[in-house]
Amino acid sequence: MELPFAESYKIKMVEPIHKSTRKEREHWIKDAKYNLFNLKSEQVFIDLLTDSGTGAMSDRQWGAIMTGDESYAGASSYYNLKDSIKKITGFDYFMPTHQGRAAENVLFSVLVKEGDLVPGNSHFDTTKGHIEFRKAHAIDCTIDEASNTELYHPFKGNVDINKLDKFLSENASKVPFIIITITNNTAGGQPVSMECLRETHKIAKKYGKIVVFDSARFAENAYFIKVREKGYANKTVKEIAREMFSYADIMTMSSKKDAIVNMGGFIAMNDHEIWHQCSTFNIMFEGYVTYGGMSGRDMNALAVGLDEGTEFDYLETRIKQIEYLGDRLKEFGVPFQSPAGGHAIFVDANKVLPNLPKEHFRAQTLAIELYLEAGIRGVEIGALLADRDPVTRENRYPKLELLRLAIPRRVYTNNHMDVVAVALGNVFERRAQITKGLKITWEAPIMRHFTVEFERI
Ligand code: F0G
Repeated sequence: MELPFAESYKIKMVEPIHKSTRKEREHWIKDAKYNLFNLKSEQVFIDLLTDSGTGAMSDRQWGAIMTGDESYAGASSYYNLKDSIKKITGFDYFMPTHQGRAAENVLFSVLVKEGDLVPGNSHFDTTKGHIEFRKAHAIDCTIDEASNTELYHPFKGNVDINKLDKFLSENASKVPFIIITITNNTAGGQPVSMECLRETHKIAKKYGKIVVFDSARFAENAYFIKVREKGYANKTVKEIAREMFSYADIMTMSSKKDAIVNMGGFIAMNDHEIWHQCSTFNIMFEGYVTYGGMSGRDMNALAVGLDEGTEFDYLETRIKQIEYLGDRLKEFGVPFQSPAGGHAIFVDANKVLPNLPKEHFRAQTLAIELYLEAGIRGVEIGALLADRDPVTRENRYPKLELLRLAIPRRVYTNNHMDVVAVALGNVFERRAQITKGLKITWEAPIMRHFTVEFERI
C-alpha cells in the first residue's frame, strides 16, 4: 500500500486559539462595523485573513534571531541577507525595506511619474495604490482565462503576451516598466509560467523596457513550474527560481510571504545606478541602506527563510494543504477559482450569491456569513478592494468577486481545513436565504477595504 502524505516538519511550540458562540460573534462583528479587519484576533477561531507575516518560523530561524547584529551600518546580518538573496535570486544589489509596499514606495519614487502607464498581470492593491497615488495608471494584461473560475489552466496568472505587445506598440513612450506579480495574487494565487516570463522579458527588451517582478510568492510559483511545466520536473526549486529571476531587471519582495518571516521586505537588482537612486528614498522613508526598516535579527531570520522557503519538501507540504481544502470544498459543491492557488482558496462569490445585487458587496457578505458560522476570518478580493475609479469616483466591479481564504505557512493542520470546509459548506447550503448584503457608511479615498465601515441592509 502507498504511504499517505504527511507534513515535512513536526511542531515544537503551540499557541492556544479559542472558539466562540454565534451570539458573541454577532455582537463582535456589528461592533466591528462589518469589517473583519476591525476584529480582535481573539474573536477569531481560524484566521485566514492573510498568509502575510502570519507563518511559523523554524528552529533555525529562531536560532538566527539570537545572533542578529544590530549595528546601524554594515551589520553582519545585512551581509548574511545579501549572500542569501544573491544565492536565491542572482541579483548583486539589494536594499532592505520594512515590507513589500515599502519596497514599492522606494522603487516607484524613482521610476513612476504622473501620466505613466504600467502594464502587468493584475497588480496587487498596494502596487496599484502606489502607481495611482503618483497619478499614473496600472494596466491589467492578464490572460482572459483567469476570469473564468471553472476553467482549468495550469498558469492562470500569465500575462497575455499579445495584449502586452499591442499595448506597448501603442504606448511605449509612457511605460516606465512592466510589472509581473508571481504568483498572481489577485487572480487567485495563480502561477505564471516560465515561458510567459521569458516572452515578457523578450517583448520588454524589444521596446527597451525594464521588467520588475513583484516576487512575494516566487517560491510557490517556482514549485508550480516544477510540477506543471514541461522540462522542469528534474530541476530543483532553487534552480527554477534562478531562471525566473534571470528574466527580471528588478524585484520587489514582501518577505512576509514566501520567505516565512513576520516582517520584512527588499528591492534587488543588477543595475547599480538604479540602486543609487533608490538609496536616497530608502534613507528618507525606511532607514540606512544596510538595514532599511529591519532589525539585524530580522534580516538574519529572513536570510534563513529564503533558503527554507525554496525547499521542495516544505513547498509540497504547503501546496498540498491548499489542495486538500480545495478538494474538501468540492465535496460540498462550493465554487472556487480552479485550480487551487498557491497560498489560498478563492471562493467565487458571484456564483455563491448570484441573486444578491452586486452593489451589496457579495464577497464581503459571504465573508461575514462565514465568520458568523464558525469564527473563520477570510478577506474580500472584489469590488471593495478594487476601490473607486480615480477619475469618475464610481465603484469598480472587477470580473472576479472573490472571498479569499489565505492559509498561513506551517500554522494550521488539516483538521482546521476540515472545519473551514464544513462551515463554508453550511453557508453554501443556506445561500438562498442570504438576500441582503451590506451598505458602506464610511470609506477612505484609496485602499478603502482596510478601514471601510458598513451597516447591514
Ligand atoms: N505584492 C503582493 C503580490 C502582495 O500580495 C502583497 C501583500 C504586497 C505586494 C505588499 O506587501 O504587505 O509586505 O507590504 N499582500 C498581503 C496579502 C497583504 O494579504 O495578500 P506587504
